[in-house]
This record gives sequence, C-alpha cells and structure tokens, in this order.
Amino acid sequence: MEKLLLTEAREDDLDFLLGLWNDPRVMRYAGYPDGRCWSRADIRKWWSRYQAEHTRWAGDDVQFIISFSDGTHIGESHYGPVPKGFEVGDWRNPEGVYCFMADIKLLPEHWGKGFGTAGMRMVAVHIFTKTSCKLLVVPPHKDNPAASRVYEKAGFIHTGIEAWPGHEIMELSRERFEDIYGVKQAEG
Ligand SMILES: CC(C)(COP(=O)(O)OP(=O)(O)OC[C@H]1O[C@@H](n2cnc3c(N)ncnc32)[C@H](O)[C@@H]1OP(=O)(O)O)[C@@H](O)C(=O)NCCC(=O)NCCS
Repeated sequence: MEKLLLTEAREDDLDFLLGLWNDPRVMRYAGYPDGRCWSRADIRKWWSRYQAEHTRWAGDDVQFIISFSDGTHIGESHYGPVPKGFEVGDWRNPEGVYCFMADIKLLPEHWGKGFGTAGMRMVAVHIFTKTSCKLLVVPPHKDNPAASRVYEKAGFIHTGIEAWPGHEIMELSRERFEDIYGVKQAEG
C-alpha cells in the first residue's frame, strides 16, 4: 500500500479542503451540526477560527492534510481538545481527563483501499506521542459502517453513548493505545 504523509494544513490547502468538504458523498454522515465549509468566504472564516484555536490550545488543535508521498492530497483529519465541561446528547467530556476529539475524511476515489485505517492509525500515533491527550474520541454515525470499522481497526471501542443524533462516541484511551500500538510518549 502506498505510504501516507500527515502534514499540517497551510493556506495553500484551502481549495483542496473546500472541494472535499463540499462533496456530498464525503459529508453525508460527517456534517457535524452545521456542516463545515460551503463557500470561499466561509472557508476563509473557518481558517481564521482554526488558527485562533491552534494558538489557544498551544498547537494541540491541528488540521492535517493526508497525502501520498508524491504530495497528492487524498484527505484530511482534524483533532483537538474538547473544552472542559463540554456535553452533547448523552455524552459529557469526562471530568479531569484531557480528552481530544478527531475525525478523518478521504476523497471517495481513495475509499476501500485501507487508507482510512492507515491514516487514522497515524493520527492516533501522532496524538498520543506528541501531546498529553489521555482519551481520544471519535463520533461516527450509526449508518456509516466504513467509519466505525476504520475506528475499530485503529483500536477504538464502542461506548453505545449517543452524542449528536445518530452519532455514537467511540473511544481510545492512552493505556489502550500504548497496549495495542506498543508506543509510548517521548520523554521531555
Ligand atoms: C470513513 C472513511 C475515512 C473510510 O476510509 P477507507 O479508506 O474506505 O477505509 P478502509 O479501507 O481503511 O476500511 C474500510 C472498512 O470499512 C468496511 N466497510 C466499508 N463499507 C462498509 C459497509 N457498507 N458495511 C460494512 N463495512 C463496510 C470495509 O470492509 C473495511 O473494513 P475491513 O478492512 O474490515 O474489510 C471514508 O469512507 C470517508 O472518508 N468517508 C467520508 C467521511 C466520513 O464519513 N468520515 C468519518 C467521520 S466520523
């Protein structure tokens, strides 16, 4: 399988993200409450907000671009800390646990070839080795079995807790990550 690269999004990547986030096949189960981006003006606003969040969380909130090693962009993944006390549906950010939420989206022509799983595993490795995240959660929709399966293969477990309507929280704790990936956070 082709090797994937994760790189932090740059302003030059906004056209790629705009195309991806406007593809109804990609956003069918991944719109979040308000969807993501819809026009060039929207994505500019999103980019400013993202940069503010990236600074606010001291680099712990990251928008990745997923590419092949020749630089061809195939998707994106976002992760970031969940604010203290955040709650949605039946899910609440556990008290005193530094919890991150993430997701992954690929262009449809690259689905079904293992790239989602490989990308999500790379994202998990990045988060648990480069940040002090203790619990990583993802919110796949119950009608999106490809997403649930990718998260299962990356080590996440089902909680049965519904956050946004139809979206179940799946979780991967740092202990479980270290156990199944055999990787620990670098010292210092
Ligand atoms: C979710 C997504 C990233 C998966 O990427 P991918 O590259 O196709 O994933 P993989 O090829 O690594 O694995 C897909 C798995 O789902 C399974 N799958 C796919 N469609 C399925 C279906 N309809 N029913 C059951 N399993 C299904 C595949 O068989 C495979 O599992 P297996 O290896 O055990 O056979 C991709 O479909 C996508 O970008 N979707 C749109 C955005 C999205 O919904 N993101 C999730 C947000 S929470």
